[in-house]
Amino acid sequence: MNILITGAAGYIGSHVLKVLLEQSSHEICVIDNLSKGNINAINELKKIRNFEFFNVSLEDDLNEIFAKHKFDAIIHFAAFIEVFESTQDPLKYYLNNTANVAKILTYCKIYGVNRFIFSSTAAVYGEPDTPEVSEESQTIPINPYGYSKLMSEQVIKDYATSNKEFRYAILRYFNVAGADPDGLIGQNYPNATHLIKVAVQTILGKREKMAIYGDDYATDDGTCVRDYIHVSDLATAHVSALNHINENQSEIFNVGYGRGFSVKEVVKMAKEVSGVDFKVDIANRRDGDPSVLISNASKIKTLTDWTPKFDDLKLIIKTALEWEKRL
Ligand code: UFG
Repeated sequence: MNILITGAAGYIGSHVLKVLLEQSSHEICVIDNLSKGNINAINELKKIRNFEFFNVSLEDDLNEIFAKHKFDAIIHFAAFIEVFESTQDPLKYYLNNTANVAKILTYCKIYGVNRFIFSSTAAVYGEPDTPEVSEESQTIPINPYGYSKLMSEQVIKDYATSNKEFRYAILRYFNVAGADPDGLIGQNYPNATHLIKVAVQTILGKREKMAIYGDDYATDDGTCVRDYIHVSDLATAHVSALNHINENQSEIFNVGYGRGFSVKEVVKMAKEVSGVDFKVDIANRRDGDPSVLISNASKIKTLTDWTPKFDDLKLIIKTALEWEKRL
């Protein structure tokens, strides 16, 4: 196949690119405006095998690229992902995350690209009533980021209804963490707020201390529980989803492991893995944090050939730590 990946210089996009370069013979083309992505990821991955890279934005005129390449499929990552920022500047999110999906689908329509893999998020579920959510659970986001993704899902579904040739897979990611076990790529954003990233930065002294946001939740140890998934497993889920929709109908898939760890358990494991007893404060709850969010991931496991290999919190933290050391 001839595949376009948008945002492949970013954290998740680069891991998917690596899997495709290593494990498939698909022809790959990448676009990224490098606003959040990192050119080093592109340069490192080109050593595996060459692919075409265009430093362009979704706002740019992409007709020439589409006309030249005749893509069979698009894997669309390029988007903003910061929940707090989305509450401060929602329009930025609706323009880049939602309007640009309509834009890229317009190219699909013009150039006959009929396979589309979309990077969505568990944030579409908002604060669910049940700890475990399936694809059928209700979707009531609690911030503009979640809405920008949920609205994009609707745009994709509506387009698919109008074009019977078009098939999509929407992947709703749970808590993505860790880094490429080969050490080539990882998370590069400067002001990351995600728990495991913050913990490994604290291990390395890049932060003096870290905080646990609330220990009075209705969970076993009072801290929030999440379904942490290794980024390399998330990456292979994209390939399995693409293979699946090639032969079958469109689907929405949760991508997680279907089990959870509390913030305290993650902190304890980070101390164990590193041997560093870093300083941890108990702080107030962070606005908008559901107490428990765990995927019911049986659908992707049943319908596709996805076989996760890194369902191991220790390994997730270890690879995140190794990557952080390299930065
Ligand atoms: N946390 C801390 N201290 C920190 C950072 C996080 O206690 O320094 C806690 C949070 O309060 C939360 C848990 O760790 O309870 C996980 O927080 P993250 O910021 O790592 O991730 P979130 O669960 O808030 O959100 C992430 C993505 C969302 C996605 C969600 C899916 O950012 O886009 O996972 O579960 F929807």
